[in-house]
Amino acid sequence: VIFSSAKEGSVKVAKEIRDLILDKQSKGEMCVLGLATGSSPIKVYEELIRIHKEESVSFQNVITFNLDEYYPMEPENIHSYHYFMHEHLFNHIDILPKNINIPKGNITVDELHDYCISYEDQIDAVGGLDFQLLGIGRTGHIGFNEPGSHVNSETRSILLDHITRVDAANSFLGIDNVPKKAITMGIGTVKKAKRIVLLGWGDKKASIIKETIEGAISSEVPASYLQLHSNTTFVLDKEAASEL
Ligand code: GLP
Repeated sequence: VIFSSAKEGSVKVAKEIRDLILDKQSKGEMCVLGLATGSSPIKVYEELIRIHKEESVSFQNVITFNLDEYYPMEPENIHSYHYFMHEHLFNHIDILPKNINIPKGNITVDELHDYCISYEDQIDAVGGLDFQLLGIGRTGHIGFNEPGSHVNSETRSILLDHITRVDAANSFLGIDNVPKKAITMGIGTVKKAKRIVLLGWGDKKASIIKETIEGAISSEVPASYLQLHSNTTFVLDKEAASEL
């Protein structure tokens, strides 16, 4: 779906999330959201905060699982995705802290393997993701599933692509400060979500959006695996859709 601006597209996506939360509330069920970081979802989060404040929509029946976190990374570090999510969403809504799940970037190397399995188990234990929000990196990554990621990959640690680290360098004040690794949900984890929405804004995303949607399904462009998912929508602005 192509919108004339990121704002318009974000409002539409936030409304879909609101309707899902309200539908689950009316049935007395929890709503399980998979959330993303980066600049792409910021306007969706702004709109969700507005919906919470102005429409009095509660998030107390919402459970969230974030896609990824840098590794190693302390949660209180301003570069952490933990910090990002609290700053841009969680501090402004009434979600219960116990229902917030973000991969822990401060566990030891020895704990990593079991921790990743337990993250996956926690998602399964609440019935899986009802809705997964995604951005896309210039390498075609979703979460931090870099080129080479397997279609059935699960939550794991991963080495970041050089392009991804270059893109993150500005906010880290130089590439040397960007972690080399991350923990990410896998492509398989994402693909199990009942509904997926990928946001793409701006002309910098145009070429990877074209490859993702019109190119071959390949581990070289991990987001292309979304072609195999039956309930995915790409929400784009005109610039990101300009090469389609
Ligand atoms: C990071 C995140 C991704 C995100 C990507 C794009 O790599 N791990 O989840 O999609 O950045 O970021 P942006 O939305 O700022 O373009």
